[in-house]
Amino acid sequence: MKRLFVIAVASEKGGVGKTTIATNMAVYLKALREDLPVTIASFDNHFSVDQMFALVPPSERNVAALFEESPPTDLVRLGQYGVQYVASSRRLQLPHHPPEWLRQRLDSMDLSGILILDTRPIMDWYSEAALLAADLVIAPVKDRAALINTEALRQVLATVGHSERLWLLPSLVDTRARLNAEVRVHEFLSYAARERDYQVLGIIISKSPKVESLASGFSSSVRPVLTHARNTAVHRQFKQLAEFVLDRFDAAPVASHDRIMTPVQNDSGPSVIRRRQVQECPVCCLASDVNAGHFFFSLRSRRRGYVHPGCFAKICAAMNPELFENCGGVIALTLDGPGLVAPDCRLAAHLFNDNGELLESETIVIEEAQTIKESVGCMIGQPMDRAYRELVFLNGYVEAVELRPGRTEAGVFLKNRRKITRELRQAGLY
Ligand SMILES: Nc1ncnc2c1ncn2[C@@H]1O[C@H](COP(=O)(O)OP(=O)(O)OP(=O)(O)O)[C@@H](O)[C@H]1O
Ligand SMILES: [Mg+2]
Repeated sequence: MKRLFVIAVASEKGGVGKTTIATNMAVYLKALREDLPVTIASFDNHFSVDQMFALVPPSERNVAALFEESPPTDLVRLGQYGVQYVASSRRLQLPHHPPEWLRQRLDSMDLSGILILDTRPIMDWYSEAALLAADLVIAPVKDRAALINTEALRQVLATVGHSERLWLLPSLVDTRARLNAEVRVHEFLSYAARERDYQVLGIIISKSPKVESLASGFSSSVRPVLTHARNTAVHRQFKQLAEFVLDRFDAAPVASHDRIMTPVQNDSGPSVIRRRQVQECPVCCLASDVNAGHFFFSLRSRRRGYVHPGCFAKICAAMNPELFENCGGVIALTLDGPGLVAPDCRLAAHLFNDNGELLESETIVIEEAQTIKESVGCMIGQPMDRAYRELVFLNGYVEAVELRPGRTEAGVFLKNRRKITRELRQAGLY
């Protein structure tokens, strides 16, 4: 059986739409895939989960039991719309465990399918535990302040090397609001987020008076968009969001081997980086030369390492040797995985000069380039047919020592990386 897939909806900023997204996502997931168990629990004390899903009056068994010493029983109930829910609680007791413990607790319960955790607008033990337990973290961002706050989520995820599980979702978007004649506010927000190396969903959740009305007023129940606001843009957007989530769920490993807890590092930096340092050349899989080579860096997984010069020539030969082999600049490989362009992935190579200016772009026929397929898979850290949207940088030949922090060459690489990412985005290539 596929292991439980946990989604945390989180933001330190209040009122960004976390609960609305978490609860509606549960309804849409169930609507799209009837046979998939979908469960929701909230660590907040607002009872919105109960107001949308409860079929029976509240009982003593609620989410507080999740944090008790002995494993809880009979906690999950079947609710409205086929969604299972855990009743909310006004008060949670702090467990005598580090936040990593929550995932073990969840795994020890008899749950399968997808579990959605709605979190509090504060980075406390419960929010941290939800982040560390999550296979996917959705962070609604409605303004610049929310974007700045997202850094706290990234830092928690970075301590266990899971930054790539974080996806930002522009929320409560007023599509008419503009920064100036050309740029709409939410476009600027997405742009600013990508600039900061965040993954941003290509989906937005619009601000809609109709959607707002579903949770306001004096009624004790909250209605889902699916049943009560089908004629809004938000209906289509939630459907897209659920499709994205199902793609991630389907791509998640079946076995539980990646569940082994990585110890939390308080001194985040070096140890995290070392774990993402790939010791083998991604082309031949033999030990890479630690002193020099063609440096590669995968933007999403942050994996990095060195390609042997001969192996670099091999992948260039499979692309366009005349163009790439002695280019000296930076090659950016963009990959749209099947989650985006199903059923096949799309790979393209873009050549940039030393100043980070785009010279050429070339689409690669993956079926004819097995070496590239495997090499890129190794660089991004997962098979290409599980990828979503990736960007890998392949540098010219460098001495490893030159890329140490503080060295000029390292600074140039970082600057070019940002510039290239920006240019590719502006050109619609990534
Ligand atoms: N798409 C939307 N359009 C209009 N109003 C919305 C939308 N999504 C949420 N709202 C409204 O915005 C307010 C905040 O939403 P919600 O409670 O989901 O945010 P939250 O991040 O969970 O807040 P908190 O941090 O307090 O838990 C609510 O009144 C909700 O009804
Ligand atoms: Mg909330």
